[in-house]
Amino acid sequence: MLLLRYLFLVLLAMPAFAGDAPILPPLHHLVGIEPSDAIEIPDAFKLGEQGELICATCHGLKDIDKTPLDEVDTESADFLVGGGYRKITGFCYRCHDEKKVQRDNIHLMLDESGNIKKKQCEFCHEEVPDREKVKSHKDAKLRLPLTTICLGCHLKDPHFNAVEHQVKPAKDEMLKLIEKNSQQQGIIVPLSDKQEVVCVSCHSPHQYGVIDPSTPAGKQVKTKDLEKGVDYKPHPWKAVVTADKLDRLAEFNQQHDMNVAFSYQRIVQETLLRLPAKDGQLCLVCHDFKD
Ligand code: HEC
Ligand code: HEC
Ligand code: HEC
Ligand code: HEC
Ligand code: HEC
Ligand code: HEC
Repeated sequence: MLLLRYLFLVLLAMPAFAGDAPILPPLHHLVGIEPSDAIEIPDAFKLGEQGELICATCHGLKDIDKTPLDEVDTESADFLVGGGYRKITGFCYRCHDEKKVQRDNIHLMLDESGNIKKKQCEFCHEEVPDREKVKSHKDAKLRLPLTTICLGCHLKDPHFNAVEHQVKPAKDEMLKLIEKNSQQQGIIVPLSDKQEVVCVSCHSPHQYGVIDPSTPAGKQVKTKDLEKGVDYKPHPWKAVVTADKLDRLAEFNQQHDMNVAFSYQRIVQETLLRLPAKDGQLCLVCHDFKD
């Protein structure tokens, strides 16, 4: 239980190593420790000479400990041993027992009577925001900048096309489109200080109703079952679409030494999105696919 909360709050306070040891990024996993009986290390993960966790236990990149932090290729298939994890927890569960460490879905922010669960707010806000007064993320005392606040719990690459999106729009026209369309749709589309698209440009971090849904910051897709999350069902065109992508996927897998499978499905439930994406509404806030 609460494994990630522990990681999030405790490691935040002690990001670096002293002396010659490599400087680890904030929120990083501990190293140099010998696994206890509670941990089962699969063969693919190589331990150090004393049976301890070393960089190469979890990372396939050569000399990662000698590489400056901002030059580490986190998008490489070898970045995490085994590669191609859809969720970061999939990686954690290779060693940690999934049942024992199930993590709390902190996006469940309302109790049965519709009151906010205040402790959830403090994962991301330094103090529980007063919803009557705080009307912008700039006043919301976020613990980390918008570019990194979701990482640590989520990968930077949680789904297809997520990484490609976390950039500043190449053309100013897109910035104008975002401003115009978000006003028209009555939503907010927060960007980073450098005008990069971030997770919360598309996603709301809050459960529906935490922020007044009649205001732009609170307008979002209403999800019936937030606990279940994104849900898909089989699509009648699956076989056709899969066949169509087979060759390209094989090439991709070979090139990147990965084993990504493709499955074309129909989305049943969307979650934590500012507008529905399944019919393209969200995409059209920023994109003008006509040209
Ligand atoms: C290669 C195996 C391995 C992987 C993968 C792994 N861990 Fe660990 N983790 C360990 C070992 C070993 C320990 C030391 C504690 C022990 O041996 O019981 C540990 C300890 C921890 C602790 C401290 C627990 C405590 O009781 O102090 C946290 C928190 C943690 N891991 C979170 C994670 C998260 C989150 C992930 C995924 C991002 C992850 N771990 C992936 C092996 C692993
Ligand atoms: C138990 C597994 C584990 C061990 C051991 C480990 N790491 Fe990591 N490391 C991770 C995970 C998981 C992430 C990705 C976190 C994320 O993307 O949110 C990560 C991320 C990183 C990053 C990238 C941070 C960023 O986002 O830019 C660097 C750099 C890094 N580790 C260096 C090291 C070094 C150096 C060592 C050895 C001293 C080491 N790691 C040992 C699991 C491990
Ligand atoms: C997962 C991280 C996260 C958690 C947990 C979280 N917030 Fe936020 N909050 C954010 C981010 C990021 C923003 C800025 C983007 C936005 O407004 O959606 C924000 C913005 C806000 C704002 C300003 C909205 C506006 O008008 O622009 C309020 C008010 C707020 N949060 C209240 C809360 C309350 C109350 C809770 C607890 C029930 C909570 N938040 C939990 C990440 C979080
Ligand atoms: C918040 C604005 C925003 C939203 C919403 C958005 N995009 Fe994008 N998209 C971008 C930016 C920025 C880029 C980077 C290229 C650029 O600047 O033109 C991009 C790039 C792309 C690319 C090219 C990726 C590549 O490989 O270069 C595709 C395809 C795409 N978007 C599809 C979508 C789809 C489908 C949706 C809806 C699910 C969507 N986008 C929603 C801003 C957005
Ligand atoms: C303290 C950890 C934590 C932080 C910080 C966090 N999340 Fe989450 N998030 C979770 C957990 C736990 C779930 C439940 C599903 C799971 O375990 O992956 C979840 C689920 C989600 C889902 C729905 C996926 C599904 O299928 O249920 C989205 C979307 C999401 N988070 C977006 C965000 C965004 C955007 C941010 C940053 C503003 C963020 N999260 C910050 C822990 C976190
Ligand atoms: C351009 C828009 C966009 C950006 C940027 C974006 N996402 Fe998503 N995300 C989506 C869409 C669309 C879905 C699928 C439908 C849904 O969530 O209902 C999705 C799904 C998810 C899911 C659920 C995946 C699943 O299948 O279980 C998680 C978790 C998530 N996003 C986290 C993040 C995080 C963390 C970031 C930033 C690192 C991010 N997203 C950036 C649009 C985006």
